[in-house]
Amino acid sequence: MNRNLRALIVQACHNSRADPSGSTCNEYGSAGQVVVWHREFLVGYLKLILKEFTIHMQHDDRFPEPDSASAAHSQRVAEFMRERIAAAGGSISFAEFMQHALYAPGLGYYVAGASKFGVAGDFVTAPEVSRVFGRVVARPVAEVLAGLDDGAVFEYGAGSGRLAADVLGALNELGVLPVRYDILEVSPDLRERQECLLRDEVPELMRLVRWVDGPPEDFTGVMIANEVLDAFPVERFRCTADGVQQICVTGHGDSFATIAADAPGIIQDAVAVIERDLGEALPPGYESEVSLGLREWVVSLGTTLRQGVAFLFDYGVSRREYYAPDRDGGWLRCHFRHHAHGDALILPGIQDITAWVDFTAVAEAAVASGMEVAGFAPQAQFLMGGGLDLELQSMESLPAKAQLELSAQVKTLTLPGAMGENFKCMALRRGGAKVPSAFRLTDRTHTL
Ligand SMILES: C[S@@+](CC[C@H](N)C(=O)[O-])C[C@H]1O[C@@H](n2cnc3c(N)ncnc32)[C@H](O)[C@@H]1O
Repeated sequence: MNRNLRALIVQACHNSRADPSGSTCNEYGSAGQVVVWHREFLVGYLKLILKEFTIHMQHDDRFPEPDSASAAHSQRVAEFMRERIAAAGGSISFAEFMQHALYAPGLGYYVAGASKFGVAGDFVTAPEVSRVFGRVVARPVAEVLAGLDDGAVFEYGAGSGRLAADVLGALNELGVLPVRYDILEVSPDLRERQECLLRDEVPELMRLVRWVDGPPEDFTGVMIANEVLDAFPVERFRCTADGVQQICVTGHGDSFATIAADAPGIIQDAVAVIERDLGEALPPGYESEVSLGLREWVVSLGTTLRQGVAFLFDYGVSRREYYAPDRDGGWLRCHFRHHAHGDALILPGIQDITAWVDFTAVAEAAVASGMEVAGFAPQAQFLMGGGLDLELQSMESLPAKAQLELSAQVKTLTLPGAMGENFKCMALRRGGAKVPSAFRLTDRTHTL
C-alpha cells in the first residue's frame, strides 16, 4: 500500500508538472504548493481507505437469502424444471438443466428481469468494473478495422451494453468508426437495457447500432464476445472403471439432485478427445464438464467470418489445466449476490451458472473451421499490450480522487489475484486480417 501511495504521489507531481496553469512540482519548485497539494491528496486517500474499511467491516459473509419476489420467481422456474424432468421420464441432462435455468423463455436467469450485473446484481464483468476496459479494447479493434474495407463490429451477448458504449465512444475518438455495430443478444430483457444505455450515452452513434437475431452470413470486421462462452450450458460427466457416465438432474422433494446415467456417444467421444490430448485416461471417479455447444458456436463463427478478427474474452485455461488431476470436480461456478459457490441446483432462475472455458477446445474448433489463432494472453498482458498505458495517460488530468478510483479499477482488471490472470483474451483471425499488436507482450498460444 505504501508503494502505491508513493507511486500515486509521484504521479500527482507529474500531473501538476503538466498543469497548463503553470504550477510546478519538482525538488526545486514551489514547496508550499506541493505541501498543500500532498495534504489534499492524502486526505482524499485516507477517506477512501476509511470508506473501504467500513464496507469491509459491514460485509456479511453469510449466504444471502433471496427476497420474496426472487424466491417466488425461483419457485416458478423450479416448477417448470420439474415439468421438464417428468416429461423426460424422470431426469434431464445437466446441460438441459443449465439451459432452462439461464434461458427458459420468460423464466431463465438471463431472460427474466434479474439485475445480474454490478453492485445490485450477482457479479461484475470487466466492462462493468471499469470503462477503461472497453476503451482499451477499442484500440486493437481500431487497428484491425483500419486494415479492412468497410469493416463492421459484431458483439455477442452485450450484457448491459456497457462494452458497446465504451468501444463505440472510443472508436469515434480514434476516428475509426465501423460501418455498423451489430449486437446479437439472446435475452430480450438485456436487449432493452442495452438500447437504453446506448441511447443515453452515445446517441450520435445510434445510427450504427442494430440488434440482430442471428449470426451474420458473410462478415468482414471485428467480432467481440466478453464472458459469453462461460454462459453456454455444459454437460457434466463422471469417469468410471466401466466407461463414462453423464450426470443428470432429477427431482428430490422440493429440490433437485444429480444422478448418473450411461453417457450418450457424443459425451463419450468428447471425453475420448480430451483423454487422447492428455495422453492418458482420466481416473475412475473423476468428474468434470465439457461444453458441446462451444465447439458448434466457434465453428459457426468461423464459417461467417470472411475477413477479420474475433476477440473472445473469458475466464479459462488450456485443456491440460482444465482436466488436471487436482481439478477433479470441474470448473462450474454459480453467482448469487456476489457470493460464488458450486451448487448449480439451488436458486434456479435467480443465480448465474457458468463454467470456465477450455481454450484448447476453442482453438481446435477455430482451426477446424479455417481460422487461425492470432493470439492468446491473460487479460492483464492483453490490456497492457493493447494500450492501457495510453488510456491512463489521457486520464492524468483527473482529480486525485478519480485517479485513485481508476487505479483501484485497473488493479481489478490486471492483478493476477483479480481478473488479470484467470481472464484471457483469445483472438481468432481469417482472410489475412492484421495480427493485433496487443499480443506483443505475451502470446501463450503455444500452451494450448
Ligand atoms: C455474463 S454475461 C456477459 C455480458 C457482457 N458481455 C459483459 O461483459 O458484461 C453473458 C451474456 O451472454 C449472452 N448470451 C448467452 N448465450 C449467448 C449466445 N449463444 N449468443 C449471444 N449471446 C449469448 C447473455 O444473454 C448475456 O448477455
